[in-house]
Amino acid sequence: MSIITSHRFRVTLLSLTALTSLAIYIVSAHQTDDRLTGNWAARNVGTTDGVTRSTYFNLKYENGKITGTIRATQFFYTIKESTGGPDGFTIVASMMDGHSERRVQYEGKLVGDELRIIRRNRPDQPVTEFVAKRAPAGEGALPARIEPPARHKVAYNGLAKSPPMGWNSWNKFAGRVDDAAVRGIADAMASNGMREAGYIYVNIDDTWEAGRNAQGEIQTNKKFPDMKALADYVHKKGLKLGIYSSPGPNTCAGYEGTYGHEEQDAMTFAKWGIDYLKYDWCGARTLYTDEEMPAIYQKMGDALLKTGRPIVYSLCQYGRLDVWKWGPDVGGNLWRTTGDIRDTWDSMTGIGFRQNELAQYAMPGHWNDPDMLEIGNGGMTDTEYKTHMSLWAMLAAPLLAGNDLRQMKPETLAILTNREVIAIDQDKLGKQGSRFWQSGEQEIWTRELSGGAKAVAFFNRGKDEAKMSLKWADIGTSEKWKLRDLWLHQDVDAKGPEYSVTVPGHGVVMLRVSKK
Ligand code: GLA
Repeated sequence: MSIITSHRFRVTLLSLTALTSLAIYIVSAHQTDDRLTGNWAARNVGTTDGVTRSTYFNLKYENGKITGTIRATQFFYTIKESTGGPDGFTIVASMMDGHSERRVQYEGKLVGDELRIIRRNRPDQPVTEFVAKRAPAGEGALPARIEPPARHKVAYNGLAKSPPMGWNSWNKFAGRVDDAAVRGIADAMASNGMREAGYIYVNIDDTWEAGRNAQGEIQTNKKFPDMKALADYVHKKGLKLGIYSSPGPNTCAGYEGTYGHEEQDAMTFAKWGIDYLKYDWCGARTLYTDEEMPAIYQKMGDALLKTGRPIVYSLCQYGRLDVWKWGPDVGGNLWRTTGDIRDTWDSMTGIGFRQNELAQYAMPGHWNDPDMLEIGNGGMTDTEYKTHMSLWAMLAAPLLAGNDLRQMKPETLAILTNREVIAIDQDKLGKQGSRFWQSGEQEIWTRELSGGAKAVAFFNRGKDEAKMSLKWADIGTSEKWKLRDLWLHQDVDAKGPEYSVTVPGHGVVMLRVSKK
């Protein structure tokens, strides 16, 4: 009896121990899941704009794997690979951006109730660190997709008969642009000769936005207390005000886009007195394919027309899907043909000299846009900035200064306000120039002008000065035509049937050739 009892006791004891460890195992496994699984938000509150922009990590930890999604500014990734767990993990996530895949890698670990995350950028850049906390389920989820409208042709708005001229905040100010800076820029343009030279649009780029009010109306953030008052101020100076948005839920910098509020936002812009809209694809890439771009841009083209206010429509989608072929049909007055310019010789020339094939698509009302000017931002020499200005004029490109106009050296102002070069850019025939001749680092570009005149630019992309020549007969003119050097501001001698000129390294000689 006692044996049986003791045996029974031992069996009970054994099964109790097994049960307990199983319970401990279940609890701990469960605990592990709970610690990482859920929606996490890293919140970044802008100190000057007061806008909270969050990065969301919506995670599930199961069977030793992390799955889920990551939403960061304009991007929405799905986690594809993971190693590790709550106490140290690496995840690789990916999304399709048009026809190419975009991948990001994050490393993280749980510390108390915080998720500490780092993103390794390019090896030469510092890592980005996030501290994420638990957020309500569903917060930050991508909004439902709204089907693109059926295609139709948007009527021409009658604007931008010559390439738009003005200023844009992005190249110099990026996220630091505010009401005071815009007023200061307008003051400068109205008093330093730029307005008289044709610079009219004062364009606020990304980072002016806040969220929406209860009626869904877009709000400005702390940096722009009263957009209507700002527009009035700019208009009183004889200038016009431009603004920026995206067809996506977010702009490139992660601020509120027009998604689902296109008509309402167009009306708000018109109510404020906005004269120009740059509409940047950005967050739309999370919801639409490149092939759907025309329909999405058409939507805002329609919305702008519907306001009844003349608003220049600038498409910014980095030249994808041959935008020059459909830009006019969606109501576009100009369209970016490239990714973002930087203030370097390589970036500027890489973009500028690549525009040759697009010449046929430019015409009054509709322009190729190789991006804004970097003149005066300090990354190039004045010789190089003259090349920048000349090349953009040959390309009939929009001339949007991108420097701080409130404080620039006289040489910068002189380059920006060279009226003879501006006249080439703004020529009313509206025919974009193209490459006439090239040999190694030397290129001659020509542009047909109204009245049968021509612009000729001798570009030397090499570091050392170079001698370049042109036979007048080859471009259908002769030594009897009048020659004007647009940087020396003087008439020059044609020097017989063949013209030779010495062009400084990275420099340009730009001529206007016209019948006497
Ligand atoms: C994109 C555009 C830029 C600028 C930024 C703002 O990169 O191409 O010109 O508007 O977005 O976030």
